[in-house]
Amino acid sequence: MSLSFSGQVALVTGGAAGIGRATALAFANEGIKVVVSDVDVAGGEGTVELICAAGGQATFVRCDVSRDAEVKALMDATLAAYGRLDYAFNNAGIEIEKGKLADGSEAEFDAIMGVNVKGVWLCMKYQIPLLLAQGGGAIVNTASVAGLGAAPKMSIYSASKHAVIGLTKSAAVEYAKKKIRVNAVCPAVIDTDMFRRAYAADPKKGEFAAAMHPVGRIGKVEEIATAVLYLCCDNAAFTTGHALAVDGGATAI
Ligand SMILES: NC(=O)c1ccc[n+]([C@@H]2O[C@H](COP(=O)([O-])OP(=O)(O)OC[C@H]3O[C@@H](n4cnc5c(N)ncnc54)[C@H](O)[C@@H]3O)[C@@H](O)[C@H]2O)c1
Repeated sequence: MSLSFSGQVALVTGGAAGIGRATALAFANEGIKVVVSDVDVAGGEGTVELICAAGGQATFVRCDVSRDAEVKALMDATLAAYGRLDYAFNNAGIEIEKGKLADGSEAEFDAIMGVNVKGVWLCMKYQIPLLLAQGGGAIVNTASVAGLGAAPKMSIYSASKHAVIGLTKSAAVEYAKKKIRVNAVCPAVIDTDMFRRAYAADPKKGEFAAAMHPVGRIGKVEEIATAVLYLCCDNAAFTTGHALAVDGGATAI
């Protein structure tokens, strides 16, 4: 059975790299027009070039998801480009924290919460009116396995991803009867720049990361993209308010 998509337009934040880029490419591969958004202009334009080179349609809009006016402008730009919005993948996130809880700073806390939590909230705040006006749509927010349990030395990040799941579930229930589905994807360790930054200093950590997953390896960006497309597709019409772990079995232990 193949996945079925009745929507025509997707928005991907954090689309310049990693999970966001792979998911933008996957949407485009289904014939869906993609608005790629990020603070990284070169990377975002690179994703658009990859989509266009493969025969798809995409446009880049720069947006810092932690800023209200920029997020509102992103939705306006999406409507201006393609006239509608069917699927939103609110994926932009940061992970700058490095120490135990008592070593964290107020600046780290505000930065992580600003992007990972306020960013997702602002995106949904401005996406939902568009989806309501159209009679429905699907939103997927990027949480993490760190949103499902403890993440030692990443307590602020973990709190931010728990909050993403809280926003996801509440929005799902609020808008379920309006045909807006809202789900979260919860990756374990995935091979992206974020992972490489975290493990660059100590190659042994890479082996440790692989061993954390019962399947014996870290995940691939395409494996998250596949889960996001499933959560958006028509076949998932009965799935909302769910936090889907895509984690090589990590949370089953
Ligand atoms: N890689 C992992 O192991 C992993 C695991 C679980 C969850 N995640 C989550 O997946 C998402 C994507 O991460 P990734 O691994 O692809 O990382 P990445 O660093 O490769 O990509 C993140 C993208 O978000 C963009 N971004 C950062 N701040 C932004 C802002 N304020 N506004 C707009 N864009 C911004 C970055 O420029 C970058 O292009 C994040 O939410 C991350 O927390 C990643």
